[in-house]
Amino acid sequence: MTTLSLSTSSAATLRADAIVIGLAKGGDGPTVVAGGEAVETAFGGALDSVLTALGATGAEGEITRVPAAAGAGSSLKAPVVIAVGLGAEPDGGYGTDQLRKAGGNAARAAAGLKKAAVAIALGDAAAVGAFAQGVVLGAYTFDAYRENSLEGRKPAVKDVVLVGAKARDKAVKAAFEEALAIAESVNKARDLVNTPSNDLNPKGFAAIAVDLGKNFGFKVEVMDEKALAKGAYGGILGVGQGSATPPRLVRLGYTHPKAKRTIALVGKGITYDSGGISLKPAGANETMKMDMAGAAAVLAAVTAIARIGLQVNVTGWLALAENMPSGTATRPGDVLRMYGGRTVEVLNTDAEGRLVLADAITRACEESPEKLIDVATLTGAMMVALGNKTYGIIANDDDFRAAVHDAAERTGEPSWPMPTPAELRRTMDSTIADIKNIGERMGGGLSAGVFLREFVAEGVAWAHLDIAGPAYNEGEVSGYTAKGGTGVAVRTLVQVAADVADGTI
Ligand code: BES
Ligand code: MN
Ligand code: ZN
Repeated sequence: MTTLSLSTSSAATLRADAIVIGLAKGGDGPTVVAGGEAVETAFGGALDSVLTALGATGAEGEITRVPAAAGAGSSLKAPVVIAVGLGAEPDGGYGTDQLRKAGGNAARAAAGLKKAAVAIALGDAAAVGAFAQGVVLGAYTFDAYRENSLEGRKPAVKDVVLVGAKARDKAVKAAFEEALAIAESVNKARDLVNTPSNDLNPKGFAAIAVDLGKNFGFKVEVMDEKALAKGAYGGILGVGQGSATPPRLVRLGYTHPKAKRTIALVGKGITYDSGGISLKPAGANETMKMDMAGAAAVLAAVTAIARIGLQVNVTGWLALAENMPSGTATRPGDVLRMYGGRTVEVLNTDAEGRLVLADAITRACEESPEKLIDVATLTGAMMVALGNKTYGIIANDDDFRAAVHDAAERTGEPSWPMPTPAELRRTMDSTIADIKNIGERMGGGLSAGVFLREFVAEGVAWAHLDIAGPAYNEGEVSGYTAKGGTGVAVRTLVQVAADVADGTI
């Protein structure tokens, strides 16, 4: 794992394997961003022309390496300068997400090194936090399953020292520690998402939650299949009954002695989604180990919230099941009696997320949280609507939806508000039960939201994050986003909890 520290020493005198500087894209070539002055001095003013000669432009994500000895009589204590492109500098300086991406690009460029010193001025606490978070996220690798294929893969950089930060400033230190807690939790969520389903079933997931609760100071209660049957959790049991590994509902409880407000976080935790009897075709199932990304985000967020010690009470609910076809599986046409007594006609067993979530939402609402957010890789339709980077926000309260959207923006997680059109409810009328689990194809992401809303108790402000698109990156690595599990929504959830703690939401 990469360790990060803040230092007050000068970049020029620090012993490291590389010094990282930032490059801004400018009208007439790249310019070194503030913080890199000592490096420029060491090059006797020739650095810009050396970089230009090497083809550097300062474009975002561009990496240019310069031997430090290229500076005549260089006084640098590091052998290499790594110039990371930050793109054009906006009026008012780089924003936090640009710095987060720069941190990610810097960390990946420094892979294989022991120690890298970052000489980029990080003006305030928020900038330090964002850059540090980017480094931890960008350094992430998932090599747990590589035995003889590690060759040529550079290990993550060991130590990163930020020399451009006010290391003694209290607010800077606090932001730095918070950023690390959040980024490490995001990486934990990524690990869970990346772990294949043959090594992560509902029981194992629950055990990991128990461990994290012990280590970071929150309560964890696990309901096994017997407890679920006793409590009549028909949705979770119905989805899990086709699998050889039975379902679980996990309750996470974080409390702060001075907290007055409570929010509930509910995560979809399908450790594998085959579709069930409504089996997914080949091509649609290769990534379905990721269908627990919502539960992973909730577990990671509660872990981060506990580590930071936010002044708010949080309950987390992990609705864990494996959706498999078998002789014991729920059939299309079966009717499930949900937790709380409502009946659902299951016409497509692949619309399983809303079934486990409905039970967990009903249960979470029994404790009367002020606000509830569920997170789920729920629909392909949301991916068609918003693509692979942006998640959809559905809510029963316009102000809360806007507040969640705003919190997401501030953490650099792209999201977009989506509606819950009332007329879609009719498309889920069942001929024999209270509701069907599918509506018409058009607006499928919205009808999933309309379905879930039915299970939210009156008086609870609810938001649903459909993260099906951004939860899993099948594209290229970029910025701080790795391939595979992204850990999306963790940062938003922690930010919303912080806003509730501060009273700004
Ligand atoms: N887990 C899937 C949604 C999904 C698809 C997530 C692709 C990530 C990538 C969900 O359980 C599902 O199968 N949804 C169906 C619902 C439909 C049957 C109403 C879908 O979107 O096709
Ligand atoms: Mn499904
Ligand atoms: Zn699913």
